[in-house]
Amino acid sequence: MTTNAVILAAGRGIRMRSGLAKALHELGGVPLICHVERAVRKAGLAKPWVVVGFQAERVEELLEDRVHIVVQRALRGTGDALACALAKMPAETDNVVVLVGDCPLVPPSLIEALIERHRTAGARATIVTTQLGDPTGYGRVARDGDGRVAAIVEESECDATTRQIREINTGIGIWQTAGLSEILDGLPWHGEERYLTDAVAALIAQGHVVEAMAAPEPDLVMGINTRRELSRAEARLREMTLERLFDQGVTIIDPETTYVDAEVEIECDTILYPMTCVRGKSRLGRGCRIGPMTTIVDSKLGDEVTVDRSAVEHSVIGSHSTVGPFSHLRAGTHLDRNVHVGNFVELKNTRVGIGSKAGHHSYLGDATIGSNVNIGAGTVIVNYDGREKHPTFIGDDAFIGCNANLVAPLEIGSGAYVGAGSTITQNVPADALGIARNRQENKSGWAKGRRPEAR
Ligand code: UD1
Ligand code: CA
Repeated sequence: MTTNAVILAAGRGIRMRSGLAKALHELGGVPLICHVERAVRKAGLAKPWVVVGFQAERVEELLEDRVHIVVQRALRGTGDALACALAKMPAETDNVVVLVGDCPLVPPSLIEALIERHRTAGARATIVTTQLGDPTGYGRVARDGDGRVAAIVEESECDATTRQIREINTGIGIWQTAGLSEILDGLPWHGEERYLTDAVAALIAQGHVVEAMAAPEPDLVMGINTRRELSRAEARLREMTLERLFDQGVTIIDPETTYVDAEVEIECDTILYPMTCVRGKSRLGRGCRIGPMTTIVDSKLGDEVTVDRSAVEHSVIGSHSTVGPFSHLRAGTHLDRNVHVGNFVELKNTRVGIGSKAGHHSYLGDATIGSNVNIGAGTVIVNYDGREKHPTFIGDDAFIGCNANLVAPLEIGSGAYVGAGSTITQNVPADALGIARNRQENKSGWAKGRRPEAR
């Protein structure tokens, strides 16, 4: 028996009121469609067929070769979308699991249970349903006098009695492929659309059995049609992510104000302080102290790193380093072990070697800084001449005095000193002192002459 999966994701998502296709909206930092694709993979199914339409190229680019792409040229409803996919799927496919691209929290275990249930019951189709307190917007599951599934009735087609039904269609189901294309071809039109849900009544009319399987957790099979539903799903996913981190030995001081994206990994004994966001594909090691009021995006932190009230983006921080309060590590920052970045320091595309320090008020851009370097307060690397960015190299053990401007391109040799207040425009050789400022002159008695009593 060959079972393959189809994900329907061609729709624009009009109810989102967005310029972006619904499948591309992010939940927990991951596009909706990628959640569904991952669930299929985790359920042990082969590459799914994804039906795309609105912004097809963008969805295709995102999914790369993890899926087979099927283009639905005109958006003629879920029935037509499945028909498009069936036409492209291998002939040996006996059963097709149908998922919707806007149901991102579907658990892989539910997909596995559905396949198993369908196989043992021998039904022509098995749909996943659930009971909702407020079923508004969903297709209702109508049952006959014996309690067997009779039809799915879309909200727009419901009469007053059907509208009362609390059992809804989640959009997830599995269908035997034998004769399915013919059934889909014969579905009625509702305006410009054919509903896959009408295939249930069509199968039953032909004497086949359609089974229903109840999803145990309704909030994991909710569809996302609006921003409101997206935010509800976000809250649910965040809760699941924090639960996972608790189980992995992470301390979260205040879950109410801690936001961690779905793909983030954090090792044990790390503490997240309040108002902290860890986003994207960030990886945090053991025993780190992150926050309060810190944002970490797509970054990798070693063990026992401290980041306090700072922003870290697309950067790497080595073990035992400290950052903040109030610093900004921009893309391409790479701190080695035991580095200290203090307050009001901005780094961009800069490597800092073992044990180096930049304690206060500095900008370090496009630089390579060796180990045990001291960057004095107020140091600015002048990396931009108005047209181009230039590199700076600072050797091991160098000492940059306070308030220096290092005008790039520039090399400061290892062990060299830069005098405080210097604007350095020429390379400083190893072990030399570079100093570039006016000599001080003291005018004796000058201040006395300025006082009012002297006039
Ligand atoms: C659908 C179901 C409804 C179910 C609900 C569950 C139908 C007709 N209705 O309604 O019974 O309760 O999901 O969330 O199936 N799509 C295409 N091509 C199209 C139209 C839609 O690929 O031509 C895709 C969409 O991108 C989306 C999915 O199919 O991922 C479902 O479409 P949507 O418009 O969201 O259907 P609902 O109204 O939510
Ligand atoms: Ca939907």
